Amino acid sequence: MSEKTTSKKPLNVLIMAAGLGTRMKSNRAKVLHELGGSPLIAHVTRTARALDPQRIVVVIGHQAEEVERVVLDTVGEIASFVVQAKQRGTGDAVESARSVLESSDSLVLVLSGDVPMIKLETLENFIEHHNSAGADCTVLSVRLENPTGYGRVIRDESGSFQKIVEQRDATEDERQVKEINSGIYCFDARDLFKALRKVEPGNDQGEYYLTDVPAIILRDGGSVSVFLHNEAREVYGINSRAELAEFENLVRRAAIRKLMIESGVTFIDPSHAYISAEAEIGRDTIIHPNVTIEGKAVIGEGCVIRSGARITNSRLGDEVTVKDHSIIVDSEIGSNCSVGPFAHLRMNAVLEAKATVGNFVEVKKSRLKRGTKAMHLAYLGDATIGERTNIGAGTVTCNYDGVSKHETIIEDDVKIGSDTMLVAPVRVGARSVTGAGSVVTKDVPPDSLVAGVPAEVKKNLKRR
Ligand code: UD1
Ligand code: MG
Repeated sequence: MSEKTTSKKPLNVLIMAAGLGTRMKSNRAKVLHELGGSPLIAHVTRTARALDPQRIVVVIGHQAEEVERVVLDTVGEIASFVVQAKQRGTGDAVESARSVLESSDSLVLVLSGDVPMIKLETLENFIEHHNSAGADCTVLSVRLENPTGYGRVIRDESGSFQKIVEQRDATEDERQVKEINSGIYCFDARDLFKALRKVEPGNDQGEYYLTDVPAIILRDGGSVSVFLHNEAREVYGINSRAELAEFENLVRRAAIRKLMIESGVTFIDPSHAYISAEAEIGRDTIIHPNVTIEGKAVIGEGCVIRSGARITNSRLGDEVTVKDHSIIVDSEIGSNCSVGPFAHLRMNAVLEAKATVGNFVEVKKSRLKRGTKAMHLAYLGDATIGERTNIGAGTVTCNYDGVSKHETIIEDDVKIGSDTMLVAPVRVGARSVTGAGSVVTKDVPPDSLVAGVPAEVKKNLKRR
C-alpha cells in the first residue's frame, strides 16, 4: 500500500456511464434518460465539476456519442472520455480508465451516472472523511428501510468494513443488512488499479464488480473506511422507469416547494404542477392545476397561468394571464398581456405589452405590438403587426406559397375584418380597414377601406 502523507492529493472524478441499463427496457442508454428536464448524466457531471477536480473522466459505451455530447454541453473541456467497448461490469468500467488515471498520484472519486441526486456538500464531506481517516478506500453507504436491489455493506463484529455483496450473490442473512453501497467510492489511484487486476468475474452475473475492490484492498493490508451518510434519498440509483418516475416526483416537488417558499408563487394544487428546476417565477403568480413549465422559462410577478397550459423556454412579463390549454414555446410575452384559451405561440412569437391573443389563435414567428388584439380563430405567421390593431376572427396570413415563406406587415391602428386572407408578401398601411372575407393580394395604402376578392380600395377613409 502507498505511504500516506498528510498533504492533499489532487482529485480526479471517474463517472461510470457506459451501461445500457437493461432494467430500463429502453433503446436509449440509461444515463440519457431525463430527470427534471436534463439527462441523468448531466446531473452527475454538474455536481462533479462543482468539486473543482483536476479532471472528470467519463466511461462511455452505449450511445457513446450522445453521452459525450451531453457531458461536453454540460461541463465542457474539463471532461474527457474513455470507451468501454463491452460492458462487463463496474470493475471493468473503471479498468477502461487505467491508462488515464493509474499513474496519477491522485484521489479517484468514483461516481455512477445513474445516481443523480448526490449533493456537492455530501461529496465534499465524503472526501474530507477519506482524507482524515487516511484510508486507501472509502465507501459511501446509507441505511435503507428497503435495501432490495442494492449491494450490501457487510461489517465484522467490531463494525469494521469487511466486504460488499451484491443482492443476487448475498446469503439470506446478508440480505437482511440494511446498510447499502451507494456506488460512490473514494480511492487512492494506485491502490485502486492494483486491486482491480485481482477482480474475478466469479459472481452470479459473471461480471467484473468494482464492489470487490474494497475487500481486495483490505486483504492486501490496506485500510477501508465507510462513510455512512444519513440522507438516503441522495444516493438512490435509478435502474427502472418506476424509479425514474419516483425521482421525477421528488425533483418536481422540491422545485415547486422552493418556488412557494423562496419566490412567493401560489400553486393551487402543487401535486399537479410540472415545473422545471430551471424555471424562474415571480411573486404572487398563481399556477393552476396541470400546468407544465419546461426548460428555462422566466415568468414575472402577478401572472395567472390556468389549467392545461404548457410554457417552454419562454419569457413572460408581469401580470400576464395565460388561459386554459395554451401552448407557449420559445416565445416572449410582455406585461399585462392575455393569451388563450387554446392559443398556440411558437418560434419566437413576441407579444408586446397589453396585447391579447384569444381562442384558437396561432402565432408563429410574429410580433404583435402594444395593445394589439387577435381574439378568435386566426393564424398569424411571419407577421409584424403594429400597435392598437385589431385582427378579426378567422384571419389568416397566407405566408407560404408552397416554396417559401413570406412576410405580412400590418401597421398601427388597423382593423382587419373577419375572415380576411392576407396573401404574403403584403403590407396593410396604418389606419386601414379590410372588409369581411377580403382576400388581400396587394399592399393596402394607409387610411383605406379595402374589400372583395381580390380586395380593391373602396374608399379613402381620410376624406370621409
Ligand atoms: C451498483 C453496485 C451496487 C450498488 C449500486 C448503487 C456493482 C457491481 N454494484 O449496482 O453495489 O448498491 O450500484 O446504485 O457495482 N456501468 C458501466 N459499465 C458496466 C456496468 C455498469 O459503465 O460494464 C455503469 C452504468 O452505466 C451505471 C453504473 O455503472 O451508471 C452502475 O451500474 P448498474 O448496472 O446500475 O449497477 P447496479 O446494479 O445499480
Ligand atoms: Mg444502478
